Amino acid sequence: MWLFNSSIGRKVVMSVTGIALILFMTFHGCMNVVALFSAKGYNMICEFLGANWYAVVATLALAALALIHIVYAFILTIQNRKARGNNRYDVTDKPAKVEWASQNMLVLGIIILIGLLLHFKDFWYNMMFAEIVGMEGLAHGPADGFAWIVETFKNPVTVVIYVIWIIALWFHLTHGFWSAIQTIGWSGHIWFNRWRIIAIIYVTLLCLMFLAVILGFAFGCAPSLCCGCGADCTCGQGDLCECAKECVKAVGECCGK
Ligand code: HEM
Repeated sequence: MWLFNSSIGRKVVMSVTGIALILFMTFHGCMNVVALFSAKGYNMICEFLGANWYAVVATLALAALALIHIVYAFILTIQNRKARGNNRYDVTDKPAKVEWASQNMLVLGIIILIGLLLHFKDFWYNMMFAEIVGMEGLAHGPADGFAWIVETFKNPVTVVIYVIWIIALWFHLTHGFWSAIQTIGWSGHIWFNRWRIIAIIYVTLLCLMFLAVILGFAFGCAPSLCCGCGADCTCGQGDLCECAKECVKAVGECCGK
């Protein structure tokens, strides 16, 4: 079939899976922003997603999309290198107009994959996986996503790695989004530059959502973190931020401290 055998077919597969992954990230980014404002609201979403059959099916579908995207990335890169034969480095002066990201998509993709594995260890393993296999003895419950966020971004090394990860994502996605639109053929003469600007704005907003959560928790200034009362609001049992005093009391009660 042309989707597997031809070069343009493979590019279409990469584009469609890439756009689907961006749509997932949009949902995921919006979901995470809830954690900035409400522990209870965030944990309700985590509970709803949990290890229910529909969430597990969605996770498997997502994993398949990511796998196809990654395998095709390698196939296309190998194919491009073969097509250029031994003359890969004949022209070393890169045309000024070619974006840096477009020439480094595979490297950026590998950095993103490493970040994703770390992210799975921090969250998916402690939450969905822990619930499926009935793991016990973890610091927080499998649906207490809020507590896992607080826990994860307490560590400054993790925060730096996540920030680098988001920057790599920004470069990869700004080029990838625009390039996918070209491949699918939605981009005519007039829309060529418009799509580039739309891609930059969309992906920048998306990355800012993730960064706001990472930095909001890293610096303890997320509104959901008890209005700066200093209490460790990690139990995630409710909105504890009416006022600093209430917060300390409520955290003490619900965490059994
Ligand atoms: C502020 C940064 C982020 C936070 C706080 C966060 C939080 C979470 C949480 C709590 C889960 C576990 C959900 C569950 O298993 O019930 C999760 C899973 C996941 N995250 Fe993130 N995430 C962040 C950034 C990202 C980014 C940038 C990506 C994409 C590149 C991403 C991709 C995923 C994927 C693929 C899963 C597994 C989804 C599934 O189980 O269906 N996350 N994340």
